[in-house]
Formats: sequence, C-alpha cells, structure tokens
Amino acid sequence: MMIYSFKIRKSNYITLFLTILFFITTGCVHGQLGVNNSNQYRNGMVVCAYPDAAQVGLDILKKGGNAVDAAVAVQFALTVTHPQAGNIGGGGFMVFRSKSGKTNTLDFREKGPAGASANMYLDSAGNVIPDMSLYTHQASGVPGSVDGMVEAHRKYGKLKWADLVQPAIELARNGFKITKHLASDLNRTKAQFTKLNPGKTYLIKDGDWNEGDVLVQEDLAKTFELIRDKGREGFYDGIVADEIVAEMKSGKGLMTKEDLKNYHSVWRNAITGNYKGYKIITMPPPSSGGIALLQLLQSVEKYPLKRWGYNQDSTVRLVVEAERRVYADRSKYLGDPDFFKVPVDSLLKPAYTASRMSNFSWDAATPSTSIQPGTFVSYESDQTTHYSIVDRDGNAVSITTTLNDSFGSKIFVKGAGFLLNNEMDDFSSKPGVPNMYGLIGGKANSIQPGKRMLSSMTPTIVEKDGKLFMVVGTPGGSTIITSVFQTILNVIEFNQSMQHAVTSKRFHSQWLPDEVTVEKDAIDSATVTKLQGKGYKITTHGTIGRVDAILKTQWGYYEGGADPRGDDTKLGW
Ligand code: GLY
Repeated sequence: MMIYSFKIRKSNYITLFLTILFFITTGCVHGQLGVNNSNQYRNGMVVCAYPDAAQVGLDILKKGGNAVDAAVAVQFALTVTHPQAGNIGGGGFMVFRSKSGKTNTLDFREKGPAGASANMYLDSAGNVIPDMSLYTHQASGVPGSVDGMVEAHRKYGKLKWADLVQPAIELARNGFKITKHLASDLNRTKAQFTKLNPGKTYLIKDGDWNEGDVLVQEDLAKTFELIRDKGREGFYDGIVADEIVAEMKSGKGLMTKEDLKNYHSVWRNAITGNYKGYKIITMPPPSSGGIALLQLLQSVEKYPLKRWGYNQDSTVRLVVEAERRVYADRSKYLGDPDFFKVPVDSLLKPAYTASRMSNFSWDAATPSTSIQPGTFVSYESDQTTHYSIVDRDGNAVSITTTLNDSFGSKIFVKGAGFLLNNEMDDFSSKPGVPNMYGLIGGKANSIQPGKRMLSSMTPTIVEKDGKLFMVVGTPGGSTIITSVFQTILNVIEFNQSMQHAVTSKRFHSQWLPDEVTVEKDAIDSATVTKLQGKGYKITTHGTIGRVDAILKTQWGYYEGGADPRGDDTKLGW
C-alpha cells in the first residue's frame, strides 16, 4: 500500500513538472496555445522586415553589442535588403528604454529644405499639382537616418561604429538572395524606376526579378564605406553630399549642401500614458502616432473589451468611433513642435477624451463631418518599416523608419546608390486636401523650411509593473496608429500571444474617408451585416500593417511576433 501511494505521488510530480515545462516552453502566459512554441529566448531578440537584416542584428547582439548597436546595424542592413523602406535617404523615430527603465526618444525625421515653402505644390490657380510631392526631386525632405544612427550610437552604443556599418557593406557588395516579395515589388516598380532615373540601372534588371536572384549594389557599398570611415561627415559632407546635390540639380530639387550640413536629429522626452495598469512609452510630435495611440487607449479603457471579444460587434464599433474622433484631432492639432504649439496636455486629459466620446451612440454610427472627402490611394504595407530589438541586459529599442511611399520617390542618388524619400507629401500641401494616405491637415502641418512633416509612425514600448513588457511598431502610413493600438489590445485584452497578436487580422478607420477598412475575414460576415445595419461603411483591403514586436513573458523570456504579411523575421538567442 505504501509503495502504491508513493508511485501515485511520484507520477503526480512528473505530471506537474511536465505541465510547468509545457507552459514555460509554449509561453502561453498570454494565452493561445499552439502558436509558435519555439519562440522564446533569454538573451536577446531582433524582429524586422527582412531575414538577412535580422541575422545581422542577431550577430551584433551575440558579439556583445547592445540593442542600440544592433539597431544601427539593422537600419543599415535594411537599406540594402529592404529598399522599399529601409533607408539612409529617409528618416524615422526611435523609442529607447534602458535596462534600468530610463526612457528616451530620438527624432531623426526628415526636414523641409530651406527652399521649401507653403504653396510649393500648388499651381497658379491654387490647386495641388498631382504627384509633385511624391515622384519628383522636390518631393524629398532632408534625410535624417544617418545622423540618427550616429547620435543613437554616440549616446548608447557599445561596439565600434565601423563594426556596425560593415555588415551592410558586405550585403551590398556581395549581394544577397531576394525573396519573392522583394522580386515582385521590384518588378512592379520597374516602369517608375526607369522613368524617374533615366540612364541609371539601380534595382532594374533585363527581364523580371525572380525569387533567389542575387542583388548586388556596389555604389551603395561605397557610400556605406564613407559612412563607416567618416560617420556623419561621410553622408552630410564630401562625396555623398555632392552626389545628392548633383542629383537635386538634375531635377530641380531643393536640397542644398547647407541643408545637409544643418540637419540634426533631436532627443525628445517620450510621452507616456497608462492603460489598465500598463505604462505606454511612445513617440512625441512630430509623430502624431504617440498622442493618437494614448488617446485611443484612453477612449476605450472603461469598456469591457475582454468580455465583448476580439473583433466582435461592440469592440469594432467602439474602436472605430474612438479612431474617428482621434484622427479628426490629428488633422487640426498635430505638427512639428519646433514650429507649432501642439496642445499635448489638453489632448491627453481624460476629461477631454471623455467629452469626445460623449456623443458616441450605440444606436447608429456617428457620421464624420466632412471637410473634404479623402480617398485612399494606397494602403501598401511595405512603405515604412519597423524593427523591435531587445538585448540580454534588457535594453529595448523600437524604431520605425521610412522613405514614405514604397521605394520613396523612386529616385536614386546617382553614384551613391540609394533612394530618396518622398516625405514632403506628409506635409499638408493645401488645407483640407488629402495626402497619399487620405490624411488631411492644416496650419499645424503646413510646409515651412526646416520643419519636420507630421508622421503617423508609432514606435512604442509597454511596461508592466515597472518592467519591460512589449516592444511594438509597424509600417502602414495612416494605419500605423490603429495597427499598434489593436496589437496592444490583442495582447492585453484578448490574451493573445505575441505572434498571434501580430498575425491577427486588423481593421482601420480614420475619420475621413468615413469608412472602415478591413482585412479579408477580419470580421465575420454576421458582424459585418450588423455593423452595416448601424450605418458603418465596410470596405475590404488586402493587408493592413506589418507589425514586428517582442513580448517579455513573466518568466523573463523574449517572445517575438514577426508579421507573416511580409518577409518579417524574428531571431533570438
Ligand atoms: N511617411 C509615413 C509617416 O511618417 O507617417
């Protein structure tokens, strides 16, 4: 009898042990069993838009680099491997949280050149000239990415600068195998590359690109050698600066050597908010994303989303109504804080949010008061790119960076081998006239020399109980804000694992146009019918956003979410 009961107890221990092991290895702290069980790492993690760039970041972490070192290497590697959005000819934002919980943000957003002016994209009748802010030499803001990386490294880097630039040189010079996505994006853009770069052959091939082709970029390798050897001066002065200015002159572009020399990124205090006990650390203006994200979270906080469930009728309605109001605010109050007094405190007051939501009714959709209807020209998801990185000490970096449209202006700097942004389109060319994302603006975001154009990029870090909890962000133009918002809700409210939260289908609404755009099957057909019955206009769209995120589990493991909508890759160790 004694022996028998001992056997039972022993088997109970074994069962208990196996159960605990299962929960640890599946990381189901945030629910959803069966999603990516081998997705947990102790020492660090990189999640970004291209496999070779993720490998570069991981190698840096393994060599003893910290999250900022890895970020610098990934930024440059993405310029080579993900030319749709990875860049040195564009800009971006970094949100940083140190292992001890100190936070900071770096604004390396592009700036309007000194020759820019409020009406520069208008014809003599005062109408916006189609595509002038998008596919011309005048469409580029002064790039900020190289200065941003130099600054980030100067303040927080551990490894030598040259070691962080070298992998990009090798990828550009030796080439790398392209994915199916990249091949198809290159083929789709071939006509525009050819038209806008007469006599140049960058990224253009006789015939079509195919998956597995090797892409070599020798001019870009040389540019990176100058950046490696001279740092900031390698880009904003000397040969590369001369090449940028020559390129500008060839197409009536505005950027001068003075503009390049005068460009400096800016450290800004993060803006923070709370959502049900979680602390949200995010990007201040000139991003609209941080404020909008905090407003959205505040707008829905008092409602029982968990009980309603993921993408159910009441959840969708509440989220859409919050988005409608927040995007309306964005159009009026947000711009570069160095030029326009953004009423950050007023926008984030709980009483203000409550008053905004007070006319939300369950009877029917609130019609968006139309200034002028916007149209979504495109929601391509690979404009802009985001990467999330954590290191073994617990430092975390959340960076979103962009050329604006996919491949930016599609114009290469001759001899330097990189693409220029078309970020000037993120300014308001004319009050009330929508930009390529259907976003409307006014005085706050008018064009001025030296001013930064308003952005939707929302790199974000979330804390729980004073500890790192999540690193998150995405590309997707105006859908960035809503994709980050929904990913956070997916984890906190709907108990999804990081990968599940990233993979989950999304929907988007932005006041104007007055519609809800949904990914296929994001909302079931019965719910769609109910929503339509209440006055919501639902349109289906291919994909929304490409979220790359990392969760720190309560067991201290990093769990990644790499968006399956693209080539996004998570690597850890
Ligand atoms: N260019 C897209 C954004 O910054 O929002």
